[in-house]
Amino acid sequence: MKHLLGTRGLARDAAIDLLDIAEDMAAVQEREVKKLPTLRGKTVVNLFFEDSTRTRISFEAAAKRLSADVINFSAKGSSVSKGESLKDTAQTLQAMGADGVVIRHPASGAPQTLATSGWIDAGVVNAGDGTHEHPTQALLDAFTMRRRIHGAASRGRGLDGVGVLIVGDILHSRVARSNVWLLATLGAHVTLVAPPTLLPSATQDWPIRIGYDLDQALAGRPDVVMMLRVQAERMQGSFFPNTREYARGWGLDDRRFDELPATTIVMHPGPMNRGLEIASQAADAPQSTVREQVANGVSVRMAALYLLLSGEQGQR
Ligand code: CP
Repeated sequence: MKHLLGTRGLARDAAIDLLDIAEDMAAVQEREVKKLPTLRGKTVVNLFFEDSTRTRISFEAAAKRLSADVINFSAKGSSVSKGESLKDTAQTLQAMGADGVVIRHPASGAPQTLATSGWIDAGVVNAGDGTHEHPTQALLDAFTMRRRIHGAASRGRGLDGVGVLIVGDILHSRVARSNVWLLATLGAHVTLVAPPTLLPSATQDWPIRIGYDLDQALAGRPDVVMMLRVQAERMQGSFFPNTREYARGWGLDDRRFDELPATTIVMHPGPMNRGLEIASQAADAPQSTVREQVANGVSVRMAALYLLLSGEQGQR
């Protein structure tokens, strides 16, 4: 694997291999000495043109636990604010000897441009581009589901037959898109539920079912309910049911949460709008994996960096 740009087109074997390597990395996290020497001498640049807490910190932790040198670049306070282009920024990183570039960018397709332009030799990982993809989030979500559902027997397995309900602002969600492609590849049955104004218009080729009524969808007893953040910052004045209507129609509130079977897994990629798309009772319940997802993100990102940068595919 030279780059990780999205989950669309990621083969089932490759996805399961990455999840299995993440299991190895999770075992490293449980050791007293959490570091591996695997990427000693390599340099990973975290190139963030958009804000992030979880993704940026966990890529930094992942790279450091593999003994790579890490350079954190944030567009705020950099020469990007003076108008420097992505190309010139990339070539500056190339001159500094970056082996891997983890990029988050508001423009859909920016990581693809970086990977294919010839501006840099480094492996590129998409850490979220516009409304397009966020592949490591989907991989950590799948890893979390697999562990909860299959436990110690997770290795080598997909998510065949698992029912996953993804709820909320699908229109603006790169997390939803990456999950749709990956979960379908792993054999899960995905249903999207949202207000009609928060669903993309072109989903004909998506391997999903669509619903508009959350109570009806929950009555189907999905194995997993993944709530998405309402991305008000991307709406720029276009529709939004007001927050009370949204919470009443599409929020995982206390009533809906109380009616869920105790075995239903509740997920949210974060950051959460508590009281809007998810109530605190649901977010903090034992069946919620919100904090597990964050912890698993380090293992999954270690696996991704290992596959891109170690040159040891198939030799671990
Ligand atoms: N889930 C996620 O991408 O969170 P951050 O924006 O904090 O990285």
